[in-house]
Amino acid sequence: SSDPLVIFTPSGKRGHFPVGTPILTAARQLGVDLDSVCGGRGICSKCQITPGYGEFSKHGVTVRDDALSDWNAVEQRYKDKRGLKDDRRLGCQATVQGNVVIDVPPESQVHKQVVRKRAEARDIVLHPSTRLFYVEVAEPDMHDPSGDLERLCDALREQWQLDNVHADLHILQTMQPILRKGGWKVTVAVHLGDDQNPPRIMQIWPGYHDGSVYGLAVDLGSTTIAAHLCDLQTGAVLASSGVMNPQIRFGEDLMSRVSYSMMNPKGAEEMTRAVRDGMNGLFTQIAAEAGIDKALIVDAVFVCNPVMHHLFLGIDPFELGQAPFALTTSNALRLRSGDLGLDIHPSARVYFLPCIAGHVGADAAAVALSEAPDKSDDLVLIVDVGTNAEILLGNREKVLACSSPTGPAFEGAQISAGQRAAPGAIERVEIDPVSKAPRFKVIGSDLWSDEPGFDAEIGASGVTGICGSGIIEMVAEMRIHGIVDAPGLIGSPEQTGSDRCFLDGRTYSYLVFDGTAQGGPRITITNRDIREIQMAKAALYSGARLLMDKFGVDRVDRVVLAGAFGAHISPKHAMVLGMIPDAPLDKVTSAGNAAGTGARIALLNTAARAEIEATVRAIHKVETAIEPRFQEHFVNASAIPNAVEPFPILRS
Ligand code: FES
Repeated sequence: SSDPLVIFTPSGKRGHFPVGTPILTAARQLGVDLDSVCGGRGICSKCQITPGYGEFSKHGVTVRDDALSDWNAVEQRYKDKRGLKDDRRLGCQATVQGNVVIDVPPESQVHKQVVRKRAEARDIVLHPSTRLFYVEVAEPDMHDPSGDLERLCDALREQWQLDNVHADLHILQTMQPILRKGGWKVTVAVHLGDDQNPPRIMQIWPGYHDGSVYGLAVDLGSTTIAAHLCDLQTGAVLASSGVMNPQIRFGEDLMSRVSYSMMNPKGAEEMTRAVRDGMNGLFTQIAAEAGIDKALIVDAVFVCNPVMHHLFLGIDPFELGQAPFALTTSNALRLRSGDLGLDIHPSARVYFLPCIAGHVGADAAAVALSEAPDKSDDLVLIVDVGTNAEILLGNREKVLACSSPTGPAFEGAQISAGQRAAPGAIERVEIDPVSKAPRFKVIGSDLWSDEPGFDAEIGASGVTGICGSGIIEMVAEMRIHGIVDAPGLIGSPEQTGSDRCFLDGRTYSYLVFDGTAQGGPRITITNRDIREIQMAKAALYSGARLLMDKFGVDRVDRVVLAGAFGAHISPKHAMVLGMIPDAPLDKVTSAGNAAGTGARIALLNTAARAEIEATVRAIHKVETAIEPRFQEHFVNASAIPNAVEPFPILRS
């Protein structure tokens, strides 16, 4: 062709276009991802591009300075009024004059990549549910008796190829004055729909609206509810916030909440109301923090465990409390805010990720979405540690999942000096090999307990107890230094060479810290505490080991610790305890709040939703309760680190 060649980077898409073709038009014809809200009218500036200026050869094409048209009046006006970087042009105004290479910067791409740092995890590509469209609507006419909505929908079809667009009552109630105020030019936020729903008008503004719409990624945990508020046009997280789950007053752990609902006729209802109220409070708080109107939150994604899932939806969790643990539905759910009494946009979409099984919830599905074991070349074990450990093992070939009842010991419960992770809690521990005395760090201070200034820094609140990560390090250090033996017994002062060990009833305990002189607590590790940790870690290990059996391996390539707690566990100590299978320490990483990240991926990338639904359907579920091997592994794993498994890497 004798028409000039246009090459787009970074996509590499190319084609020949007649002189005078706007770059935006060329981009659309080639399917290049170049944003536009105003449809090429020079109003929105979303279509910014960077032309390859200067006489040079790039990608085998000779590009000259005059390969694009000169600045036109629209661009000049835009540049004067709003500013435009020197090397930028508006893609809808600049036209093709010769061979040219055009770069589309990330902020001009609809499907831009939202930054994510970890190499092994999945990146977030923006694929928003709702986008803004500027349209010019035909005015009503005595000779053409059509409604305003019909003409608005015609405009969306003609100017944006959006078919079958619907509007809810609240849009109809406000639409007429807005159309007239805007002189028949309006900006419309359209939810693009999905396989179950047609596109729907979510909001309408007079004229060109330079704003955005928002979404929430919510991790509904049994203890805390955490949410990220995201801008659906940029993918940016505008605010993150959390509150305690108000259901705690009905029971600390899930099973006590299930039994509350069994024992009280209106119990489930009460708990549903409590969690929804808590949720609405959180939404008000997070919108205020980001300085946005709550009514512009048009999309929300929820991840949670099966019991929270049912209680939040207003479904009695009764069946989840007894074998065979049947869920009402394990499918993903597409609902409206109104169905759930959520005080955001009245027809906001609410998406629940699918549950994997009766004890492996949408939170585990979100972890799978974030950590992508199904795309991993090496065999990865992912554990989300909570009162119920959710465990995934897999690679490209297949992914297995199970849950294991670790109980609340890792959260500091049922431990004599245990507490939640909060200021004053011991979180790091080292025991001196000679004196057998511990030194430790508490949450809220950067100093070790034997460093000068420690007492001053922790202040009046002092050392209050030991949190989950602290107890793991403590028991592991006690094992390393011979204070506790492999079966889990604390030795006498003679056996251990430490007068910190003392007879406490029929067994020995180990003194960690005595603050009684300052009116503080006396913190000890009792043999009962060791037992609790042994049970919890054995449950976790045997779940992982069972999946390894099913996979036919006795080694994993890497281990990912997910969850807020996982972020604080020291891999070395977890392995000394035998919580996780033997692996090179540098192959044990933390994924932070992977469930929250998975929720954010599903919020920002609607294409990922169908993908995770397919992935979850393919996950092979293993029920630990009916597996005889689980009991066998459990007994062996009660020893520290293990009665039969050699842990060769750890020992070397
Ligand atoms: Fe809106 Fe170019 S498309 S300014």
